[in-house]
This record gives sequence, structure tokens and C-alpha cells, in this order.
Amino acid sequence: DWVVSGLVESMIADIRKTVGKGRVISGLSGGVDSAVASTLVHRAVGDQLTCVFVDHGLLRLNEAEEVLRVFRDEMGLNVVYVDAKDRFLSKLAGVTEPERKRKIIGEEFIRVFEEEAAKIGDSDFLVQGTIYPDVVESGVGNAQVIKSHHNVGGLPKDIKFRTVIEPLRSLFKDEVRALGLELGIDEKAVWRQPFPGPGLAIRILGDITQEKLDILRHSDAILREEIALAGLDREIWQYFTVFTGMRTVGVMGDGRTYDYIIGVRAVTSSDAMTVEFAEIPYPVMRRISNRIINEVSHVNRVVYDITSKPPGTIEWE
Ligand code: XMP
Repeated sequence: DWVVSGLVESMIADIRKTVGKGRVISGLSGGVDSAVASTLVHRAVGDQLTCVFVDHGLLRLNEAEEVLRVFRDEMGLNVVYVDAKDRFLSKLAGVTEPERKRKIIGEEFIRVFEEEAAKIGDSDFLVQGTIYPDVVESGVGNAQVIKSHHNVGGLPKDIKFRTVIEPLRSLFKDEVRALGLELGIDEKAVWRQPFPGPGLAIRILGDITQEKLDILRHSDAILREEIALAGLDREIWQYFTVFTGMRTVGVMGDGRTYDYIIGVRAVTSSDAMTVEFAEIPYPVMRRISNRIINEVSHVNRVVYDITSKPPGTIEWE
């Protein structure tokens, strides 16, 4: 609409004025905020912007390919894809404690990003997808840290860049989405559910292995497909599967099985601060469970998480 398009024009003009002939770098994760911020800056200064997309090997099925298709191929952004899968997996090998996983991933992410930034050469500006709720949240000085959040927008502000550009600083999530649509970003990318910076690492309880990642990715893809087929994908705030690491006894044909339990988490919310578990219709639940057990090997049981937040959190770690 005209309000949004007027806003786009003035934001672009502002960015142009700030950047001048400078060089800009941004971290792209596929998340809405960094995507819209980067696309805006690209509109303003074109190839003066280089986006770095770090694949830490903890993304969902086909996620890296999707991000490249939308932002590099369709939108024409200059995206450097960094395959850091092995690096992260070897750093995480044997690590079971949730906060340690988060710390390792956050630190490694900054290291990889800095290395890539150095290869690209000096940048004058760093784009951050900070939105208004992030600004407010980080203003709460003595709030107790429940989880040490890491995201692409959370790069330290003092690293090698003269100035941080945060074009979304005054916007709420729904405004960021409207802006994304106005900029012509693929609807699926604009409506993407929130996905944590540490990715699937915090949805695997205990240590992370390639086998567990494969099982988790496969079950998660089935869940997402069924939720979309049921038309619930915009209604439910987040929906994903969890690799519990626990095994139980089951029966398949005439035989005994002893395989993994997959947890399903689906919540409704408007801000992630408080959530209720989503009331997914039983027939949809049944399809999800049947498909996961039939199609994903080494899974013989599916459970649904019926915890609200508080006292639970959305992610299990
Ligand atoms: P919790 O689990 O604390 O999650 O209820 C609240 C929201 O934040 C997301 N989340 C993260 N996002 N980096 C992020 O960018 C993180 O480290 C992180 N941890 C949790 C979570 O998916 C939910 O949307």
C-alpha cells in the first residue's frame, strides 16, 4: 500500500545518504529480519553490499538451497555462501550441555563471519536486522538470562566495521513482513517461522551427530509439510520436531522395535514471550505421527509437547 511504499522510498534514501560510496557487509540467515534489512540495503546501494551466509550445518532440510534461490537467484543479492558444516560439527562433537552448545555456536559464528569479512576486504558498514522488540528487550538491564541467544543480528558491534546500519530499528515484526512483501521478497521467505540462531543444535537433546541431525531434519520436514497442507502454517507461531534421544519399545509387523522418540512442539503466540501449545486437530496429529513413524527410520514413537510458556520455553534447550 502507499504508506508502506512511501516508507520504503524514504528508508532507501536514508541508507543511500549514510552509505555514500562505502562498502557494506551483512549476515544473511534466511530469517525475515536479516533478509528484509539486506534487501533494503541492496535496493539502496546495489553491489556495494555483500551478504555472507554461513551454513553451520544446523539448518533445516533444503534451507540453505532455499535461501540461495530466493536471495541470490531471485532477488539478485551478492551472496557469499560459506560451507562451515564440518567446522561447527567438530566443535560440537560430544557437547551435551545446552548453554555450552549455544556459546560454541555463537563464538564460532563470529569467527567464521570475521574470516569471510576479511577475505572480502574492508567494509565501512555492517547491516543488522535489529527490530524494535530487540531494542526494547536489550534495554531491560537486569533481566535474568534464561538462554544466551545468538542470532545473525547479534554480531558484536565493535568488530572491524566503522558503522552499524539498522534500518528496521523502529519496526514491529508485522511491519517488517509488510515491508518484505513490498520489496518483492518471496512470500514463503517473508512468512517463515522464527528459527533460532543455534538452529537444530538446540532441538537435539544431548550431543549432536550427523545421524541425529538426519532423523530430526526428516521428521521436521514431514511436520512442516503436514502443517502447511492443513492450512495452519500462518496460524501457528512455531512448529518443529525435537530429537529426544530416548528410545522406547514398539512393535512393527511381528517384530519388536527399540527406537527413538520424536517430540513435536507447536505453539501459538504473538511475541514468543508467552505461548500456548497449538490445538492441532487430532486427524492432523494422526497423519503427522503416522508419517513420521513410517517414513523416518529409527523412530517408533511420537509425543506432543503440551507445555505453555511460562513455565516451559518454546525450544527444549
Ligand atoms: P524460548 O525457547 O526462549 O524461545 O522460549 C523464544 C524465541 O526465541 C527463539 N530462540 C532464539 N532465536 N537465537 C535466536 O535468534 C537464539 O539463540 C534463540 N534461542 C531461542 C525461539 O525459537 C523462539 O522463537
